[in-house]
Amino acid sequence: MSRSVHLTRGTLASALVGALTTALLACGGETVATSPLKPTPTDTTPAPVVLALRKVAENRALRVRIGTAAGALFNSTDAASTQYMTVMAREFNALTPENEMKFSSLRPSRSEFRYARADSMVAFAAQNNMFVRGHTLAWYSQLPSWITSGTWTTTDARALLDEHITAVVNHYKGKLAAWDVVNEAFTDSPVTLRGGFWADKLGRGYIEQAFRTAFAADPSTPLYYNDYNIEGINAKSDSVYAMLSDLKARGVPVHGVGMQMHLIGGAIPDIASISANFARFSALGLKIQITEMDVRVPTPATSNMLATQAQNYRDVISVCLQNTACDMVVVWGFTDRSSWIPSVFPGQGDALLFDRNFSPKLAYTAVNDLLSGK
Ligand code: XIL
Repeated sequence: MSRSVHLTRGTLASALVGALTTALLACGGETVATSPLKPTPTDTTPAPVVLALRKVAENRALRVRIGTAAGALFNSTDAASTQYMTVMAREFNALTPENEMKFSSLRPSRSEFRYARADSMVAFAAQNNMFVRGHTLAWYSQLPSWITSGTWTTTDARALLDEHITAVVNHYKGKLAAWDVVNEAFTDSPVTLRGGFWADKLGRGYIEQAFRTAFAADPSTPLYYNDYNIEGINAKSDSVYAMLSDLKARGVPVHGVGMQMHLIGGAIPDIASISANFARFSALGLKIQITEMDVRVPTPATSNMLATQAQNYRDVISVCLQNTACDMVVVWGFTDRSSWIPSVFPGQGDALLFDRNFSPKLAYTAVNDLLSGK
């Protein structure tokens, strides 16, 4: 007796949708079933099937690339790793290694460079026609202890910065769409040059040195300054604007500004202010990328808050679509199964486009609609 004889109309519909979704995922397809994946028992209509984000963008020849951080689940032993890879390649046409190109990941000791995991992400991107953002060369955080607890003179520190940037930029020469050369050089309140190994040893000159050294190693890859809380017009973005104006005026090779965009659901900066801020940076001749977007909410998330979050994603990404200098939006992970938020902001999370089971959330639909021109 055939199996379908035992199926009611509702379960048949459910089985069909399930099979369709599985087939689409299995062929690394271009479509994704939207929520809810399980129709009600009386519903014989398959869930609407929409094109994956990157397909929407590519079919409409959008200037804006849509990327994600590639993190701990990438090629891991975690049971969800295979699905993670499939969804990432299906949905995104850019990626940023979340931690794998940071100083402490690449340099366990001064003489040893450990590129394997970052290289595997770059190779995955090439296989799947994705751009890669390199992140990051000069940052106060995630430095190995052999640097931070070593005894170094100013001359030593200058040589260490040069040596690191030259080696790493050379290694990835011609393979990246952008380098975050300097990350988070300013504090928040008061806004001032942030301390840390490079600033303490070299003063603010380390910023210029980092850009010049990266450019000398690879003059073809766009070089970015990247920071958070600089999305709208405020004291911090004013300082970054002043610094980048000065660097540009003096011919320092800086090509873009990365707006990290780690936002709080329901409390994002004013959209008109983000738009005006993007406009002033682009008027300097800089490219703009949204580099680490997430929209955190209190957990467990209410459906109201998830709807607000969806609108927040839509409103912010529209600013990028509207400014021709903005050509990439990267989300800082795509599944709530793997995000830096809960460990850094206790009680908050659910900040991304897919839930823990890789089902698209309202935020996903909002971004998909926006890219679709809906
Ligand atoms: C975070 C990663 O997501 C975490 O896994 C890691 O433990 C700490 O760094 N700004 C940045 C990113 O530029 O590199 C940070 O990434 C998040 C804040």
